[in-house]
Amino acid sequence: MTKKSVGRVCISVAAALAVLYSAPEPEAEAIEQPVPFSHRVHSEVGIKCRNCHSLKDGFAAGLPPETTCMACHATVKKDSPAIRKLAEFARSKEPVPWKRVYEVPEYVWFSHQSHHVDAKIACEHCHGPVATRDVIVKEKPTSMQACMDCHAAYKAPNGCDFCHNTQ
Ligand code: HEC
Ligand code: HEC
Ligand code: HEC
Ligand code: HEC
Ligand code: HEC
Repeated sequence: MTKKSVGRVCISVAAALAVLYSAPEPEAEAIEQPVPFSHRVHSEVGIKCRNCHSLKDGFAAGLPPETTCMACHATVKKDSPAIRKLAEFARSKEPVPWKRVYEVPEYVWFSHQSHHVDAKIACEHCHGPVATRDVIVKEKPTSMQACMDCHAAYKAPNGCDFCHNTQ
């Protein structure tokens, strides 16, 4: 057997074992965030996505600074343990260490400005019905295939250097 095919056999054995010994693939697992922030609760309050995710650097959607939260939480529920923890981060001028859910590797070029503002693709298209979620899990793929399928559907370019800077 060549080295390559040994590798393949090992992978398929491992895959078969994984199927045998693991429970059915769970939905993307919920991540425990440092402060239990709910998109559902805040959407019901009437705050819009871009009040918190400003897209102002062109690429990232951006996470809100603690001052945005404290505009309300200096008074709203200020004695709850979760808000005390939030207030502590704000007081020490330390950003809340939110755990990332959607992330592509550094060698991939992705811009929220291009997709949301220019191509007018809704947040929900790529992130699901966030406004109804208490916890954000990765419910839409960010694989190369998922990007390319959508580019094909929208007749957007699919050349390698469109998403990978090959210089
Ligand atoms: C426009 C006002 C507003 C802003 C801005 C806001 N919140 Fe809230 N938040 C609320 C309201 C209203 C509730 C629900 C309070 C209740 O249950 O009575 C809430 C609830 C919460 C709770 C649950 C508190 C508990 O113990 O029940 C957390 C945690 C929280 N917010 C975190 C945040 C964070 C983090 C930010 C910034 C990213 C933020 N909020 C921004 C108004 C706001
Ligand atoms: C009050 C501020 C606030 C509003 C309004 C808000 N978000 Fe968020 N969003 C946050 C915070 C804080 C986090 C980080 C904690 C978390 O993942 O729940 C976050 C996380 C996210 C993430 C995951 C980021 C990652 O790590 O990949 C997505 C996607 C997202 N928000 C989309 C939306 C969309 C879509 C809307 C509108 C329906 C919205 N958000 C409205 C504050 C907000
Ligand atoms: C075409 C698909 C697409 C659309 C539309 C989209 N996103 Fe994203 N989002 C992504 C991808 C892919 C990532 C990971 C990007 C990275 O790692 O650089 C991401 C990451 C994020 C993050 C975490 C990292 C960051 O960029 O700050 C937040 C928050 C977020 N999106 C919110 C939103 C909101 C709010 C909207 C609508 C205003 C939106 N997204 C629209 C695909 C999309
Ligand atoms: C919902 C469909 C959709 C998804 C999903 C999507 N794209 Fe796009 N993308 C588009 C459209 C439409 C354009 C605009 C094409 C144009 O300008 O001709 C675009 C443009 C781009 C651009 C050019 C941006 C610029 O400023 O010139 C890049 C790079 C890109 N996409 C990368 C990605 C990557 C990486 C992913 C996956 C993480 C992704 N896209 C997912 C539809 C999508
Ligand atoms: C529409 C955007 C897009 C296009 C076009 C694209 N890629 Fe990718 N590529 C990605 C994304 C997103 C990832 C990262 C996937 C992940 O998170 O693992 C990736 C990952 C990769 C990787 C890392 C290894 C792997 O497979 O995970 C290689 C190598 C690669 N791409 C090569 C190419 C080549 C060669 C082409 C042209 C045929 C191409 N890409 C076209 C978006 C794209």
